[in-house]
Amino acid sequence: MPSYLNPDNLGPWGIYLKQVDRVTPYLGHLARWVETLKHPKRALIVDIPVELDDGTVAHFEGYRVQHNLSRGPGKGGVRFHQDVTLSEVMALAAWMSVKNAAVNVPFGGAKGGIRIDPRKYSEKELEKVARRYTSEIGLIIGPTKDIPAPDVNTNEKVMAWMMDTYSMNIGATATGVVTGKPIDLGGSLGRREATGRGVFTVGAEAAKLIGLPIEGARVAVQGFGNVGGIAAKLFAEAGAKVVAVQDHTGTIYRDSGLEVARLQEHVREHGGVAGFADADVMAAEEFWGIDCDILIPAALEAQINKDNAGRVKARILIEGANGPTTPTADDILHDNGVLVVPDVIANAGGVTVSYFEWVQDFSSFFWTEEEINQRLVKIMRDAFNAVWHVAQQHKVSLRTATFIVACSRILQARELRGLYP
Ligand SMILES: NC(=O)c1ccc[n+]([C@@H]2O[C@H](COP(=O)([O-])OP(=O)(O)OC[C@H]3O[C@@H](n4cnc5c(N)ncnc54)[C@H](O)[C@@H]3O)[C@@H](O)[C@H]2O)c1
Repeated sequence: MPSYLNPDNLGPWGIYLKQVDRVTPYLGHLARWVETLKHPKRALIVDIPVELDDGTVAHFEGYRVQHNLSRGPGKGGVRFHQDVTLSEVMALAAWMSVKNAAVNVPFGGAKGGIRIDPRKYSEKELEKVARRYTSEIGLIIGPTKDIPAPDVNTNEKVMAWMMDTYSMNIGATATGVVTGKPIDLGGSLGRREATGRGVFTVGAEAAKLIGLPIEGARVAVQGFGNVGGIAAKLFAEAGAKVVAVQDHTGTIYRDSGLEVARLQEHVREHGGVAGFADADVMAAEEFWGIDCDILIPAALEAQINKDNAGRVKARILIEGANGPTTPTADDILHDNGVLVVPDVIANAGGVTVSYFEWVQDFSSFFWTEEEINQRLVKIMRDAFNAVWHVAQQHKVSLRTATFIVACSRILQARELRGLYP
């Protein structure tokens, strides 16, 4: 047991370790290297001292964890949250290793975080925090080393500050040090919609494989933000009926299908789905038992748990959010024949277009949105079909199959590179 972990509470890292144990029997000769996956390569804890607007000095704790770099530079977001811990960032970094390998983009896994409640600080204070953090982790990040991106409570603006700080420190503009940047600073077209587009793409593939026509399929979505909103729009455009949407303001329902484009306008104007005309209001707890074919959790973690998993009627559940299904719920859904398309593949569209952003920054040559979307769809379809094949071959869930594909790729790279020295 590493000294930096509490043996009584391994937190999210403990869940990740169990997932690795579950796939180990399927790794063949590569199982010899499995301990690689159980040890983050590098974990940096930094102190971020900042002078606040009132003249006092506050200290924030920040992390950057590089879980595995066998397949390429680290890649993963940075979150600003008061409760973020080293264990959580370690697990998130490991899941990025799995996600990047699952869609076969040439990145390892990394993640970062700062223990701060961003709602309590001014924009100027947050800028200082982001800049000092970037400077402190500057030792281990870089376009060929580790490339951060937005995550919970960070956005394009934070990425612009990070890119500028790193560039100032090295004395040259380095757009490729972060992804998820504004378009005017080397960001990529299609990045904002990429995760929702990936969710739709794998959902449509899964539906085809189980013989469920998208035309007329009943879809329910939790979360109508970046991921859920775009996924709902694409399903509606493909002829599906989006019958229910839940967000932090309420749950709405329309048996004949909601008008998604109008709902998007309503959310832009009012900040949530509550109050949308042409829909009935539904009790929040009824949402998970709704009569639908495709259910898309695209909001928060641990939403589908032992209390509501048994009520899910959908044939396919596509995890747009990270970690929306608890391990117990996963087993219940499996027993009830619900096909779960796991987060590590379903929401990998975002990191795939981040990869495109990084490639475009390196070559200083930018692609059209059409090219980006075509390439995204091909990568997502190929990745999903490879995972499907492994699931059939070993008679395992798509989650275990995704881990088998991804961990095999990571450990294959480990074996080919050999151990240094
Ligand atoms: N944006 C990406 O590229 C990306 C990539 C991979 C994974 N994800 C994951 O997808 C999820 C959603 O991310 P996003 O970028 O769409 O965020 P977002 O902030 O754009 O949208 C979040 C949505 O969740 C809803 N929500 C919040 N609290 C809720 C509650 N208690 N009950 C019901 N709904 C609630 C909000 O109303 C909003 O509609 C997160 O888990 C995120 O980690 C996002």
